Amino acid sequence: MLNRLDQQPPDALLALIKLYEADPRPDKIDLGVGVYRTAEGATPVFAAIKAAERRLVNEQRSKAYLGPEGDMGFVRALIPVIFGAATATGDIDGMQTPGGTGGVRLALAVARRAGVRRILMGTPSWPNHAQIIADLGLELVPFAHASADGTADLGALRAALSTAGAGDAVLLHGCCHNPTGVDYSDAQWDEIARLLADAGVLPLIDLAYQGLGRGLEEDSYGTRAVLARAPEALVAYSCDKNFGLYRDRVGALYVMAQGDAALARIMSHGMALARATWSMPPDHGAAAARLVLEDPALEGQWREELASMRGRIGAMRAALAGRGRVGALDLSPLGRQFGMFAILPLSGEQIHSLCADHGVYMAGSGRINVAGLTTGNLDRFTAALAQVAG
Ligand code: LMR
Repeated sequence: MLNRLDQQPPDALLALIKLYEADPRPDKIDLGVGVYRTAEGATPVFAAIKAAERRLVNEQRSKAYLGPEGDMGFVRALIPVIFGAATATGDIDGMQTPGGTGGVRLALAVARRAGVRRILMGTPSWPNHAQIIADLGLELVPFAHASADGTADLGALRAALSTAGAGDAVLLHGCCHNPTGVDYSDAQWDEIARLLADAGVLPLIDLAYQGLGRGLEEDSYGTRAVLARAPEALVAYSCDKNFGLYRDRVGALYVMAQGDAALARIMSHGMALARATWSMPPDHGAAAARLVLEDPALEGQWREELASMRGRIGAMRAALAGRGRVGALDLSPLGRQFGMFAILPLSGEQIHSLCADHGVYMAGSGRINVAGLTTGNLDRFTAALAQVAG
């Protein structure tokens, strides 16, 4: 039976981690998978998380099961951060998931149980979105996320929504669009919120980079605008980047519904699906994030650490954008984009040459992780770009 299975390629993005590690060139540059890097190229554990982990080790009395919902203290502590201090939290509930991927998977599976069949999504998108949609047997309805001028293509979203209705959901990136870095403006989010409410489609927001774009509050503007108008919504959340918890797999699914009874019914499906999939999420990282959010001093430290990451990413973006034209490439649009990522319009051959001849690693889509750039490697990177795209 099992012998019939054909060979599947490794995930192209994750494969870059190993390829980069195996490269002996000392001046190689990693712009591949989306992890934050310091000016020294490190991805350290947040000091606030380290302090919380020490506390956990000293004070945690048991590791007995919590249930499919995970650590609800963690889930609830994030609610004001995501939805705002003034949120009518009665309409929103959540559960912990293994990373943001677990949140997206669960959101789509719950939507499918509710009768959703088509997922409208701006492309390009994070490749795993399409993989999860396909694996669940849902139909992906793509529309262009960005226009040629490097701004968000609201017209394409409007056109996609004009053909949508009940049975459809739209998957949107809350901020720091992955892979383009092209975010909707606040005014565009206001219009999107109106359009979604009018079209009667279910909003599903993937908020995986809160705090890495404009700021914690600013990066949730779109989510809050959509939830203020929509009767129902699903939000998948990741703490991978903004708490630096990547491999600890810390995320959540939030549900907004019409009234307590509906919310409880929807959540019961989330619980049942989680139980049948991973049973319970891993505890450690979420417990550490909860301790951070429950302690004003640690929370303040976390906010400062996040702000300095955001500052470094913004500075690298500005430095890259400041180079303007490099060969045939115009880097200036990067200065108007947000978060870790940007897409460079390079051919497969050029991307291959950057890796083979210059030790520059990036996704096959031309996506670069801006956080992989430093003042120490920026010149070399742009010189390599000028050579391959000259
Ligand atoms: C990325 O897009 O590089 C990250 O979100 C890591 C991942 O899981 O793909």
